[in-house]
Parts: sequence; C-alpha cells; structure tokens
Amino acid sequence: MTRKLTQGSATHPLVWFAAIICTVVAIAVIIVSIVVFSGYMIIHPRVPFITVTSAHLDNFQNTEAGLLETEITIVVRAENDNTKAHASFSDTSFMLSFQGLNIARLVAYPFEVNKNSSVDFHYLVQSSSIPLSPELMDQVDISLKRDRIVFNLKGNLRGRWRVGLLGSVKFWGHLNCQLKFHPSNGTYIRSPCSSRAK
Ligand SMILES: *[C@@H]1O[C@H](CO)[C@@H](O)[C@H](O)[C@H]1NC(C)=O
Ligand SMILES: *[C@@H]1O[C@H](CO)[C@@H](O)[C@H](O)[C@H]1NC(C)=O
Repeated sequence: MTRKLTQGSATHPLVWFAAIICTVVAIAVIIVSIVVFSGYMIIHPRVPFITVTSAHLDNFQNTEAGLLETEITIVVRAENDNTKAHASFSDTSFMLSFQGLNIARLVAYPFEVNKNSSVDFHYLVQSSSIPLSPELMDQVDISLKRDRIVFNLKGNLRGRWRVGLLGSVKFWGHLNCQLKFHPSNGTYIRSPCSSRAK
C-alpha cells in the first residue's frame, strides 16, 4: 500500500489553530468530567423514594344493596437520603384499587423534602358507594371469611434534585404493591412497598 505524504515547507496556520482548539476542547472535557465525577462522589446521590410506612383498615363491608363501604388510613413517606441535595417532588399520584376496581386516587401537591429528611403524608380514604358486581361481592365475602383483604396501590412519582453547582437533576419512581389487611381488626399486614429500585 502506498500512501502519498504531502508535506508543505511550513505547517499551515489553520492546522495549528485546529490542533490548539482540539487540545483545548479535550482538556475542557477532561476537566468537566473530573468536576462532575467528583461532585457525584461527594454528593453521592441517592434517588428519593416513597414508601408505605403503615396503614389501617378502619372499615370494610358490603351493604345489602351491593355497595362497598370502606375506610382506609395509609401513611406514605417521601424520603430523601441525600445529605447534600434538596428534593422537590412534582407529580405524585397513586391509585388504590380492589380487585381491579378503582377506589381512590392519592395525590400529593408538589412538595419539598430537605436534605437527609422525610415527609409523611396521611391519607384517609373513605368510600361508601362503590357498586360491586356479583363476582366482586363473592370476592368480598371470601376475603372477609379468610380475614385477609388485598388492595393494590400503584402509581408514579416524579421530581427534581437540586444538587448545588451541578444544577437540578430529574428523578422518577414507580410504586406497585399490595396492601394486605386483616378485616377483623383492621391490622395492616406488613410487606415491602417502596418505589426504591431493588
Ligand atoms: C441524617 O439523619 C440521620 C437520622 O435522622 C442522622 O443520624 C444522620 O447523622 C444525618 N446525617 C447527616 C449527614 O446529617
Ligand atoms: C389482628 O388479627 C390477626 C388475625 O386474626 C392477628 O394475627 C393479629 O395479631 C391481630 N392484630 C391485633 C393488633 O390485634
């Protein structure tokens, strides 16, 4: 293979200029990477998350007319484990359902969670007139007999971190879990329910 090498008597100034620009850009990229990486190491970001910390089934019964009456207390904690970054949650919305039947939407207005802290939300869900199909009425009867009722809680959260000089970074999470109770005394049967990625 032959390759023709043309070599001028002097390197064209534009070539020098391009080489200098490339070097400067390369150095800038390295510096920015180091700053971002060390910022990351110092701040050690952890995605804020939401957990169901406790719950209670205050009432659960079906009426003669086939309507579901229920009252549930759910305590949801928004946690920001970052010691150097505030978190602001903007879209937080969960749907509580029973056997595919939507019972209530739990929504939080945009809120802030300070560094290394958490905020608790107490939701009281009250429903008195959810019409049940005959199949669902059977399900309710079975659940009451077995003293075990299962609800589903599903939804999303979105927000932003404010990470000092690095600006703000978006985060999001997804919650999909079962809330189980003993209807006889309303006790919540604990099981993991968190938007934190495993
Ligand atoms: C974060 O909070 C925990 C418990 O509230 C506390 O023990 C810990 O010292 C705090 N860490 C920082 C860096 O503030
Ligand atoms: C509620 O009832 C369940 C099952 O009957 C039982 O295991 C549980 O200990 C009870 N909880 C309380 C607080 O009484």
